[in-house]
Amino acid sequence: MGNTALVTGASSGIGVELAKYHASKGGDVVLVARSEDRLNELKSALESDHGITAIVIASDLARPDAAEKIFAATEAMGLQIDILINNAGFGGHGKFHERDLAKDQAMMQVNMAALVNLTHLYLQGMVSRNSGKILHVASTAAFMPGPLQAVYYATKAFVVSFSQAIAQELEGTNVTSTALCPGTVATGFVAAGDLDGIKAWDNAATPDSVAKCGYNAMLKGDLVKINEIGLSFMANWVVPFIPRKTMLKMSQKFMEKAGKRQ
Ligand SMILES: NC(=O)c1ccc[n+]([C@@H]2O[C@H](COP(=O)([O-])OP(=O)(O)OC[C@H]3O[C@@H](n4cnc5c(N)ncnc54)[C@H](OP(=O)(O)O)[C@@H]3O)[C@@H](O)[C@H]2O)c1
Repeated sequence: MGNTALVTGASSGIGVELAKYHASKGGDVVLVARSEDRLNELKSALESDHGITAIVIASDLARPDAAEKIFAATEAMGLQIDILINNAGFGGHGKFHERDLAKDQAMMQVNMAALVNLTHLYLQGMVSRNSGKILHVASTAAFMPGPLQAVYYATKAFVVSFSQAIAQELEGTNVTSTALCPGTVATGFVAAGDLDGIKAWDNAATPDSVAKCGYNAMLKGDLVKINEIGLSFMANWVVPFIPRKTMLKMSQKFMEKAGKRQ
């Protein structure tokens, strides 16, 4: 198998660390995000630190044609994508009816539609070569509804459902689909989603630890990976058994900003 990974959201946070980890193993990378300058800085660092080739594709995944354009660009360069890492995503705080609908629509486009489109385009080649790996960066938000981040949590539930379903369809091939479900991580995600002041991020994991955990789970072909054992226990063995209304109240409390009543 070749070893070129396409990483979306490679300009910040978990995506940067996923690209670094892959490059540290000698793999080439295609770096995708909107912030071209940051992608170019990372390209230079990865090429000089690891002697690999990094390609930058600046793209706004909120645009409906983004995936097709990225695919056309890699095809035009004759690049074979062996690993697809759908990591780009963002959240947004507030009651759904008070939020700017355009922001939630862009969120659905980036977190779900672009991920589905990229997967559809690159998975076909992987299946025909009978070789490939896909990592979807979801969230523990996938395991419950999220009052005050209603659309974000729903997008991540979609990602975990989608990833597992295609993993089953791929059984018997050498192509795998893994959903990484981190708890809170100290990245640009907080500022991008207006999440400052939420206590849950006080003890956030580091992006490099989360990236390594997810990447290694992808190599093993795990179905779903939660980065901390305590969170995994909560998601699988506690949350499903909490009465629904109680769980919704707990979930809302988790997303409340310190000192504010939403
Ligand atoms: N941080 C957390 O607590 C946490 C927890 C669970 C799951 N996650 C998930 O982890 C993934 C990575 O987030 P992060 O924590 O690393 O946050 P981050 O530091 O804010 O990085 C987000 C990345 O997504 C890219 N992105 C956002 N909107 C985009 C768009 N319209 N087009 C192209 N790229 C776009 C950003 O690049 P540009 O701005 O340059 O476009 C950036 O590279 C996300 O899917 C997030 O939902 C995060």
